[in-house]
Amino acid sequence: MNKPKVTVIGSINMDMVTTTPRVPNQGETIIGEAFQTAFGGKGANQAVAAARLGADVTMIGRVGDDAFGRLLLEGLQKEGIHTSSVVAVEKESSGVATILLSEKDNRIIVTPGANHYVDQAYLEAYRSTIKESDLVLVQLEIPLDAVDYAMNICQEEGVPVMLNPAPAQTLSLETYKQATYLTPNESEYNELFLTLDDQLKDKLIVTQGSNGVKWMEQGIEKWVAGHQVNVVDTTGAGDTFNGALAVAIARKEPLENAVLFANAAAALSVQAFGAQMGMPTEEHVHRFLKEAGGR
Ligand code: RIB
Repeated sequence: MNKPKVTVIGSINMDMVTTTPRVPNQGETIIGEAFQTAFGGKGANQAVAAARLGADVTMIGRVGDDAFGRLLLEGLQKEGIHTSSVVAVEKESSGVATILLSEKDNRIIVTPGANHYVDQAYLEAYRSTIKESDLVLVQLEIPLDAVDYAMNICQEEGVPVMLNPAPAQTLSLETYKQATYLTPNESEYNELFLTLDDQLKDKLIVTQGSNGVKWMEQGIEKWVAGHQVNVVDTTGAGDTFNGALAVAIARKEPLENAVLFANAAAALSVQAFGAQMGMPTEEHVHRFLKEAGGR
């Protein structure tokens, strides 16, 4: 079977994860439990998810001219992702995410560093890669004018584009309309789309964490429940969902099947530490779905 071509335009970060029994108050110091670095960045995470689930993935993004940058690039290459469109920015540091993991949930601060350099000229240089894609996936950890530009290229070239509006930042209605799919989580939906729902309802696929996923198809409201699993770390669950959804849609699967596939992939991803470590393979998802009776 031919692999669908998915291009991800987005961030690449090194995640600095401190596990802590609780989050300190302002001005307070507490003792944490553990510290680990892990590959992350919403763009890179979605690229890894899509690659593990069977897509031919190209990443368009930037790393810094530093040790993290070299490790991050190597990490993507080990997943079989094409990285000739990941060019290091001289004298700039790689994107870093400071993550506090407590009570099985996270708090994240992203310092973009090299991700700031994904700009219009950079994207224009990869127009032909975008044009040859079955689907393009974009998030909001690169400059917003670059996001707008990426959406324009996709429209001009007739390529379907999935916009994951995370972290929540406001774009114009015109830009949202250019998306084939919009995939906010519930809080992003409430912040960005509540008043625009009528105009965008056929594009919106809203993830609700353990409560599942809701979307509209041909005027009918649809919903699938979340899977009850043993949660270790939710970091990257949304990215796994997006990467998986992109693969299934790029394979031209019916939307409901694509959502079921992505919902299962996300449930598997939260059962291991780190954004990328728990991301499943295609076989893993199919086995899980079979055990769950197809849901
Ligand atoms: O979605 C999770 C990701 O958000 C982390 O990997 C972190 O890098 C931030 O970008």
